[in-house]
Amino acid sequence: MFETNVFGVVMVTEALLPLLRRSAAGRIVNVSSGVGSLGNMTDPGHYMSKLPAAAAYPTTKTALNSLTVQYAKALAADGILVNAVAPGACATDFTRRLSLPATRTAAQGAEIAVRLAR
Ligand SMILES: NC(=O)c1ccc[n+]([C@@H]2O[C@H](COP(=O)([O-])OP(=O)(O)OC[C@H]3O[C@@H](n4cnc5c(N)ncnc54)[C@H](OP(=O)(O)O)[C@@H]3O)[C@@H](O)[C@H]2O)c1
Repeated sequence: MFETNVFGVVMVTEALLPLLRRSAAGRIVNVSSGVGSLGNMTDPGHYMSKLPAAAAYPTTKTALNSLTVQYAKALAADGILVNAVAPGACATDFTRRLSLPATRTAAQGAEIAVRLAR
């Protein structure tokens, strides 16, 4: 999971940096998740703190959040904005396989990413 969610992001970001640096409005939007938030996971009042413990997926998104902050710092001088987004629980192949309740559509989940990209 780290290969796809963290190291894959580094590889794609590094591959695209030459083009992003030539852009007048370079943007990177990493797709994270609320389960990557240490605040959500440790807040007794947040429903995510009640989810079963999992070593893999949430930890990759926490690492992705940190990676996003580091890229944001590194690329600020180039005028490239770097953000991470949480799409919310959306009905996709991913959640269907896990039988998770997901009330949002994929389009609704993508909206925040598109807004930050623009
Ligand atoms: N759905 C949710 O409720 C939810 C909530 C929070 C965050 N997210 C995040 O949103 C993103 C999209 O999730 P989703 O729900 O749309 O999942 P999904 O339906 O399983 O789709 C995942 C996509 O990633 C591709 N993929 C998987 N492994 C890959 C790899 N190693 N290299 C290249 N592409 C790969 C898949 O390609 P193929 O179709 O070819 O397999 C598929 O297009 C993920 O980062 C997920 O963590 C989703």
